[in-house]
Amino acid sequence: MVSTLGLVAACLAASLSTVSGQTFQRLGTCPTLGCILPPDQQDFLPGQQFDIRFEVHAPKNGSEAFNNGVPDDKFTATIAKEGAQPKSLADFFKVSDPALEKWTFSWYEDLFAQDAKTPSIVNVASKIYRRVALYEPGTYTVTLNYYSGKTTTATWTVRPLATKKKAKNVIFFIGDGMTTNMITAARLLAHKMVNGRYQSLLQLDKFPVIGHQMSHSIDSFITDSANSASALYSGHKSTVNAMGVYADSSPDLYDDPKVETIVELLSRIWGSAWGAVSTAFIADATPIALTAHTRSRYQYGPLIDQALNGLTNYTWTQHGGPDVYFGGGAEQFLPGSGSYKGKDYFAEFAKKGYSVSLNKTALAAASNSERALGIFCKSNLPVWLDRNIFPENLAKLTNDPSGKNASAADLPGLKEMTLKAIDVLNTRGGKKGFFLMSEAASIDKQMHTLDYDRALGDLLELDDTVRATVEKLKSLGILDETLIVVSADHGHGFDVFGSADTKYMAAQEDDRKKRQAVGVYQMSGLSQYTVAQPGISYNTGPNFPLNWDPRYVLAGGMGANPDHREAYCVEKTGPRTPAATIAGRGSSDFYVNAKDKPKGFVVNGTLPVDEAQGVHSLTDVPVFAMGPCQEIFGGTYNNIDVFYKIATCLGLGHGTNKTDCGKGGW
Ligand SMILES: *[C@@H]1O[C@H](CO)[C@@H](O)[C@H](O)[C@H]1NC(C)=O
Ligand SMILES: *[C@@H]1O[C@H](CO)[C@@H](O)[C@H](O)[C@H]1NC(C)=O
Ligand SMILES: *[C@@H]1O[C@H](CO)[C@@H](O)[C@H](O)[C@H]1NC(C)=O
Ligand SMILES: *[C@@H]1O[C@H](CO)[C@@H](O)[C@H](O)[C@H]1NC(C)=O
Ligand SMILES: *[C@@H]1O[C@H](CO)[C@@H](O)[C@H](O)[C@H]1NC(C)=O
Ligand SMILES: *[C@@H]1O[C@H](CO)[C@@H](O)[C@H](O)[C@H]1NC(C)=O
Ligand SMILES: [Zn+2]
Repeated sequence: MVSTLGLVAACLAASLSTVSGQTFQRLGTCPTLGCILPPDQQDFLPGQQFDIRFEVHAPKNGSEAFNNGVPDDKFTATIAKEGAQPKSLADFFKVSDPALEKWTFSWYEDLFAQDAKTPSIVNVASKIYRRVALYEPGTYTVTLNYYSGKTTTATWTVRPLATKKKAKNVIFFIGDGMTTNMITAARLLAHKMVNGRYQSLLQLDKFPVIGHQMSHSIDSFITDSANSASALYSGHKSTVNAMGVYADSSPDLYDDPKVETIVELLSRIWGSAWGAVSTAFIADATPIALTAHTRSRYQYGPLIDQALNGLTNYTWTQHGGPDVYFGGGAEQFLPGSGSYKGKDYFAEFAKKGYSVSLNKTALAAASNSERALGIFCKSNLPVWLDRNIFPENLAKLTNDPSGKNASAADLPGLKEMTLKAIDVLNTRGGKKGFFLMSEAASIDKQMHTLDYDRALGDLLELDDTVRATVEKLKSLGILDETLIVVSADHGHGFDVFGSADTKYMAAQEDDRKKRQAVGVYQMSGLSQYTVAQPGISYNTGPNFPLNWDPRYVLAGGMGANPDHREAYCVEKTGPRTPAATIAGRGSSDFYVNAKDKPKGFVVNGTLPVDEAQGVHSLTDVPVFAMGPCQEIFGGTYNNIDVFYKIATCLGLGHGTNKTDCGKGGW
């Protein structure tokens, strides 16, 4: 009896203490009622600019109700370097105290509260110190004193100085959502094996150094591409959907405390050229996080304005605008509802001296000495498989970048965009060098829709692009002074577990019998994708499969999926839609899409029924490095360390307020 009671009490205690850190959170980085942003445990590059926000929360109701919902607006804060006396922030940073701000927000404490529609209401008092920096390496303690006696402390670390530039240029490839499992599967698709020996390898396989990074966000163990990109570019983790800021609780999506990004640092300190290339719409998280400062990645129009004009809402480092900006997403450039204030951003870029290319031919002809914008379609670029193997699918799209009711023709791929970007950046960067981020976005996008052939096709396109980049840098004579890093922002739980006989599967009527088509272990056999089929010439050259549609296909899948049907074979008619709603049932209630893989068998979902696609997973992701500083990329580390490693190699950690932009040479 006694022990049973004890158990119940223990479970209840455990569940109470975890309320604020789980499904819903009052403010992810702030388990107490006093919040310091950046919170405890954060690192900084010396001289990196950032904002500091303090919040005091007074929950009006709910399990944390406190002080009748009246927040302490007389809170004080101090900062001290280890061994020194604490000072007020105004004294320490030699700035004046900011005005007090107040707001109210609400949140659900758990799923029961959400079902019952009983949000908890929180009143807030806050102050924000904008654009400060810590120059001396070491440990700092920030203390917030509130409600006469409560304190919250944050310990911050300023990393060592790094003032010497060891790499003139950095090219950072991001395979969005790319994992080691996917790389292994892509190798099997494209590279022939004889008696257990590969006859050729991926370019990634030839990198001299490989490391391993942890992708989790600051307040959830599964990340998204916004805050993971932000961690890679700024050394600061954030909350899902946030970029270039620590998410605060205020309703304004733009007022959150900011952190300086790699391209802002690089522009301020060395005046280098920089660019972004992506197969996504260019306002998507991975490319836009280079310049975005917002809690919501979905503000596409304003974020394109931030990319061109820098922050106009706040005093902040000006990154000068990209020298190269290539991708999809004409919606944010054509005048209309998708662009910031309805303006024509093709014209806005042109006014600032950019060449504007809307197709591959124009891109190739664009000047290497002018800044270059290239937007080749609406939405994401069609994937490599459709551009190269099933081009008839391209005509089905209405994605012409000039806004015509037509499909985009003459599309470049990641390789053409990246090689052109290198030409422009090398010309414009000159002695000051350049930074390029090049993203294979649809590895992630096609994994989301369980379209493994399309995802792996884009992974092979990334590998082919990296291979061509190495050759290009060699021919320009800059390979030795260029650091190449290839990594991912997060993964998906994809792996291959065998092969499937598509002919046998299609011939069976019963779902259980269809599953007998899957061959595991010794019945998985050899890859049939590298064997050319008589009469079929896909003409994709080396490093890609010779046959995308063999009888025996890879059998693979995801740990996280909606209800769907699986047949494992390539989808020839265009990208897949695995799950769909059913007439008469809810608009966010997803079932097997009756039109998808009709010859396959049903796989019941593992996700909430309102998820129509797969989701990201926990896995660590690989980091490949080649060039100056390559040796510091070995081992296992956090995603923020990728930033510190690149920033150190670029000599961006300065102990003074260095604003001699333009003087830094190689
Ligand atoms: C808190 O108060 C609001 C009304 O101000 C109410 O709608 C909500 O349900 C309350 N929440 C809880 C958890 O009691
Ligand atoms: C750095 O110096 C510039 C020019 O004096 C000044 O405008 C800026 O506020 C300073 N920034 C910081 C973070 O101290
Ligand atoms: C500036 O902030 C306001 C709200 O504070 C927002 O509506 C606007 O879109 C922002 N502009 C940009 C370019 O971010
Ligand atoms: C490519 O762009 C150029 C310049 O805007 C244009 O003249 C040409 O017609 C375009 N080609 C195609 C195939 O759309
Ligand atoms: C776009 O063109 C197609 C045929 O080419 C036509 O069926 C459709 O109505 C057009 N849409 C608009 C909005 O003009
Ligand atoms: C399994 O999937 C089918 C098709 O979407 C659906 O009708 C059925 O309800 C699912 N079963 C469960 C237990 O979710
Ligand atoms: Zn994703």
